Order: sequence, then structure tokens, then C-alpha cells
Amino acid sequence: MTKASTSTRYIAIANQKGGVGKTTTAINLASGLALLHRKVLVVDCDAQANATSGLGLSIEESAPSLYDCLFDNISLAEVIRPTSQNGLFLIPAQTNLVGIDVTLAEKAEREFLLKNFLSEIHTLGFDFVFMDCPPSLGILTVNALNAANSVIIPLQCEYYALEGLSQLVQTIRLVKQKLNPKLHIEGLLLTMYDHRTKLGYQVAREVRIHFRDLVYRTTIPRNIKLSESPSHGKPIFQYDPTSKGAESYLALSKEFLSRNRRKK
Ligand SMILES: Nc1ncnc2c1ncn2[C@@H]1O[C@H](COP(=O)(O)OP(=O)(O)O)[C@@H](O)[C@H]1O
Ligand SMILES: [Mg+2]
Repeated sequence: MTKASTSTRYIAIANQKGGVGKTTTAINLASGLALLHRKVLVVDCDAQANATSGLGLSIEESAPSLYDCLFDNISLAEVIRPTSQNGLFLIPAQTNLVGIDVTLAEKAEREFLLKNFLSEIHTLGFDFVFMDCPPSLGILTVNALNAANSVIIPLQCEYYALEGLSQLVQTIRLVKQKLNPKLHIEGLLLTMYDHRTKLGYQVAREVRIHFRDLVYRTTIPRNIKLSESPSHGKPIFQYDPTSKGAESYLALSKEFLSRNRRKK
């Protein structure tokens, strides 16, 4: 492991809508930052385990996983896996996360399990930890929001993009008030943008009018290579580094870093 860092930043990637680009963003923003020489961890918080398979881990390889972290019977070193890319690591998920809301219903400190588990991450020298949330506002998303400094919200450039957004913003506000006072929105990311359609343009424009500087200037286009790369278990920079998808996630990684520098 590399030098100890005391300034690990924790970012949840959340939106209770499915299929908006959370996992694609978790994988490729993390990968882009690793390419820019940061040490990055992706925590797969979704029972569908798309980030796990998208980063090349098979079902057989995915134990131990996040489930074991939440029940505290495992160490960080045992659960963190390297990936095919230097500087990019993963805490995998397994389908045993299904039903976790019920399983954890009675457990003490149940909203803080992930935060507690990750509390020593900084000793491993990670610069960034991205938590890929499930498509719900259940206990795993609350755990991620509690462990996070900030949230990235991907929004698909389609008609219903803003639907549910106020509920998400309200959840973030509640967690901030009651559990995690430092939590804030890191940025909104427009995904699957199709410049050929008027609708995409209109949605993007509306989001920018509402949320102004909170919206990343980088927009992620709809790009077939981005949808193909998970089935090869690779981030876009390994699957097709010359694609528009790779270009846009590299631009996002740079914009993310420059915003983080300004914040400090
Ligand atoms: N920019 C994009 N261009 C084309 N396909 C995309 C893009 N972003 C995501 N996808 C595809 O859309 C689907 C949903 O994306 P995903 O990242 O899994 O969303 P979520 O994690 O929010 O459910 C996946 O099949 C993914 O490969
Ligand atoms: Mg996902």
C-alpha cells in the first residue's frame, strides 16, 4: 500500500431511480481518477452487484463482500480487492444484500455500519472512496449518505429526469440535519445525453437553470462503448480509450479534481 493519507474523501453516487448512470459513473469516474494517479476505492452498495461485475470480479470471486463489512466480521484488508487497473480497488457486493433493510431493522447503529467499517480507510492512503448506491432510499443508501462527505447525483437526460429528485434532495437534507451535518451535494451529472434530440437539450437546459453551478459542465453522452464495457469487466479507459465515453469521463474526472481543489 502507498503512503498514508489523512484526507480521504467519501462520495456517494445516489439516485433512487434505476438506470440513470450511477454504476457507470462510479466505475468510470473512479477509473479516470486512478488514471490521474489517485488511489481510489469503489464500494458496491447494490445487491445487483453491477459495479462488482463491471470491474471484472466474477460471482465466485465476490466473497467476502460488503455484507460481511456490515456485520463487522471481517477486516478492511480482507475485503478490499485490486482490479485490473493500478490504483483502483473494490469492495464487492453480492446478492446476499437483498433483504438487508429487514435484516438490519433491529440492529443498533444500523445507519452507521458502513461509516464505522470505513473509518480506518485513510490509513491505507486512499484519496477517494465512491459508494455506488442501489436504486432506493433504503438502509444501504442511508449508510452511504452517512459515510459520505458529499453526493454525486446522476440525471439521465430524459423527460422524467427530475422526477423523484426532490425526494432525494429531501433525504439528503434529513440525513444532514439528523445524522451527518457535513453532507452536501457534490454535483449533478447529466448522463446519456443525446445531442440529436431536442428533448435531451431541453432537459439539460432546465436542470442547469434550476441547479446552476451544482451541475457539472461535463455532460456524459449516450455512447454504446459505455454500455458494452461492463460485460467485459473493464472501465471504459481499458475497453475503448478513444471512445467518446472515455473522453467524457476523463473530462469529468478532471473537472471533479479541480472542484475539489477549489473546495480545500
Ligand atoms: N452514457 C451512456 N451511454 C450509453 N449507455 C449507458 C450510459 N450510461 C449508462 N449506460 C447504460 O445504461 C444502463 C444503466 O446504467 P447504470 O450505470 O447501470 O445505471 P444505474 O446504476 O443508475 O442503475 C446500463 O446498461 C449502462 O451500461
Ligand atoms: Mg447501478
